[in-house]
Amino acid sequence: METMKGRVAVVTGAASGIGKALSLAFAAEGARVVLADVEDDALMATRTEIEALDAPVLAVKTDVTDENSVAELCAVTLETFGGVNILCNNAGVGGGGLVKNQQLVDWKWVIDVSLWGVIHGLHHFLPHLIEAEESHVMSTASVAGLMAVPGLAPYNAAKFGVVAIMETLHHEMDRDPEANVGVSVLCPGVVRTNIATAQRNRPDHLRRRRGESIDQTAKAPEEARARNAAIAAALENGMDPGQVASQVLNAMYERRFWVLSHPELLAEVNHRNQELADLKNPTLISSFTD
Ligand SMILES: NC(=O)c1ccc[n+]([C@@H]2O[C@H](COP(=O)([O-])OP(=O)(O)OC[C@H]3O[C@@H](n4cnc5c(N)ncnc54)[C@H](O)[C@@H]3O)[C@@H](O)[C@H]2O)c1
Repeated sequence: METMKGRVAVVTGAASGIGKALSLAFAAEGARVVLADVEDDALMATRTEIEALDAPVLAVKTDVTDENSVAELCAVTLETFGGVNILCNNAGVGGGGLVKNQQLVDWKWVIDVSLWGVIHGLHHFLPHLIEAEESHVMSTASVAGLMAVPGLAPYNAAKFGVVAIMETLHHEMDRDPEANVGVSVLCPGVVRTNIATAQRNRPDHLRRRRGESIDQTAKAPEEARARNAAIAAALENGMDPGQVASQVLNAMYERRFWVLSHPELLAEVNHRNQELADLKNPTLISSFTD
């Protein structure tokens, strides 16, 4: 992409963390920004911050798990700004826990937001991105989309899925003479955001259960709580989300597919690929908690 000036950029999960940093970065580059998030107060606060930059901004309360809500986001974007050039499918949630301790609601919540959210975004926006003279679509996966971190199976499943979808789309857009759509996937390592409190946006009907009732007391087994506490501690020392946003914008300017905030983590990915090539059973070289 040559310039962001006047481009219309839609960001999901825009009220916090990486999505908020992306939105501020697009506004600073002169884009018109559409903020989409399920968390109302944080969404309005982000809109106020972007308005202070004198940038055209629209905030649309959106639940990416709900196809109609994403359809509405797309309709309002087109109605307000007349088109769309950039889509960042960024909303995502996660939580730790061993597969043997997962409830179906854990799988459903994480996959609904982190994988179906991306699918809904592509389904509604891609035809308009293809119509645009120049456009770019980025989805936020994770290093957990490139390696199977123990204790994060639903998140890993969602993020491997996001990488697969975006890689497929990259090949398809490359072969499509009608389309001028750049494609990127963001695979961050640890970034200082609010993802450790992702449960704040978990809908009641997908909360953990004991029998037929929502389980408000023992929300997760001890191992999952210990894992989540370790993740929260690591996040405090994580990368600044603004730095990740700059990497994403650079990738859009340079039409680069892979955006890896922590390339040193590729050692684990390369180890996995080598074991696969050698048909060896998987092992890990990093010290992930288990
Ligand atoms: N922080 C990290 O270390 C890290 C690492 C790898 C990948 N990621 C990914 O980065 C993305 C952004 O997360 P973050 O770390 O900035 O976390 P965050 O919690 O700070 O921001 C996520 C945003 O998504 C919103 N959201 C949650 N459910 C939603 C829904 N159903 N519809 C619309 N919006 C919803 C939240 O309200 C929040 O504003 C996620 O996809 C996450 O999986 C984060």
